[in-house]
Amino acid sequence: MSEPLHNELAPDSIEARDLRHLLHPNTNLGELHRQGPAVHSEAKGVYLWDNHGKQYLEGMAGLWCTALGYGVEELADAANAQLKKLSYSQLFGGKTNEPSVLLAEKLMEIVPIEGGRVFFGLTGSDANDTQIKLMWYYHNLMGRPEKKKIISRWSGYHGVTVASGSLTGLAPFHKAFDLPIQGILHTQSPHYYREAHEGETEDQFTTRLANSLSDLIEEEGPETIAAFIAEPVLGAGGVIVPPDGYYEKIQAVLERHGVLFIDDEVICGFGRTGNPFGCQTMGIKPTTMSVAKALSSAYLPISAVIVPDSMYQPFVEASSELGNFAHGFTYSGHPVCAAVALRNLELIEERQVFAHAAKMGEIFQSRLNQYGEHPLVGNTRGAGLIGAVELVANRETGQKFDGSHAVGAFCMDRCLEHGLIVRALGDTIAFCPPLVIDDMQIDELFGKFEQGLADTLAYANTLD
Ligand SMILES: Cc1ncc(COP(=O)(O)O)c(C=O)c1O
Repeated sequence: MSEPLHNELAPDSIEARDLRHLLHPNTNLGELHRQGPAVHSEAKGVYLWDNHGKQYLEGMAGLWCTALGYGVEELADAANAQLKKLSYSQLFGGKTNEPSVLLAEKLMEIVPIEGGRVFFGLTGSDANDTQIKLMWYYHNLMGRPEKKKIISRWSGYHGVTVASGSLTGLAPFHKAFDLPIQGILHTQSPHYYREAHEGETEDQFTTRLANSLSDLIEEEGPETIAAFIAEPVLGAGGVIVPPDGYYEKIQAVLERHGVLFIDDEVICGFGRTGNPFGCQTMGIKPTTMSVAKALSSAYLPISAVIVPDSMYQPFVEASSELGNFAHGFTYSGHPVCAAVALRNLELIEERQVFAHAAKMGEIFQSRLNQYGEHPLVGNTRGAGLIGAVELVANRETGQKFDGSHAVGAFCMDRCLEHGLIVRALGDTIAFCPPLVIDDMQIDELFGKFEQGLADTLAYANTLD
């Protein structure tokens, strides 16, 4: 099928040419050919315009990533200056470049891991792949070659490569891709609203999940489990905020069994949840961290894995036997990406974005919570400037809509029509605005959402 099915499009339009030539990531391809693509043309601050000049309020920070918003001149200038000065250099073989060094130094100032080293990649997926390889490498070096399995969670999202896609605990990312690979295990999702047994308190729920994790580790043999990976607040799986006490109990189990904690901060990192890092909001003590997205506010691709000295030192000592630390990408420490990320972190500091996001987060969460009373909403949840409302057929029982009605997608489309970008994760509507959003814009966001929600209620009332 080389021609677009969408035959209303002018053959030379960008939409028609898109359909002829692009393979879109994470897209329902049949639907795409029926509807045609949406073309984004320009953006500034928290607003975005399509190629027909229609304006949208960006309620999803792109893909949870444009923390400082769009069109920040200082970031464009930083890229431009670095492109002219040194457009590329590598970190292989002991070579280095100043932006990478300064960025690593800056990162180590703000992450809650004392000492340690920063490894640069390009995406959240490659960061989590690196995490798995580093865990394997580390345990081999420590004389524990059998300690290799990684435990992730159902509903978690950690990327799409062969290994990170295996960590991801969402069926569509496994089905027909022959994932997960061996050695990646999944434990329960900490989604109290959906997964709690009838009458179970949050405390009982979190105890059950911790016991079940402990059982899994014991069945597999603690000597075979290298690490547990978690997003502090789960994003793409439905913006799930684990109940109080969950991580405390989970960490006690991990510590008891000598299992390390990989903290996937790809969404939560850099102020999203009301603190610099999600682990601080949720009371997690990570062994290692993955960051990406807001690290550069998505101006250029860059990710980082942070490992503690206790892991780095064995890597150094192993060189007498193994020679090279044989892992790295052509673009690890790309100087232009690093220069932009460094300027991004400086701007975050100069403009006190963490404090601003924390303050806006309170306003945002209190607005979000008000939808708890809406006839279509079964549950609202979030932390800081990330949140969601879950649309249900029956609020009393939490009964879901029949998937064929695509109620979440309907709501997302209506919000778009009213000039607001949100994301439907099934029937859960996710919000994750740029961290620079102000109180008036939060008001505008929810005003537009209310229009979309009213349309969705009218639609839902037509369903049996
Ligand atoms: C928590 C988390 N980890 C990893 C990833 C993968 O990042 P990327 O799409 O850059 O590979 C994502 C992407 O949304 C994510 O949300």
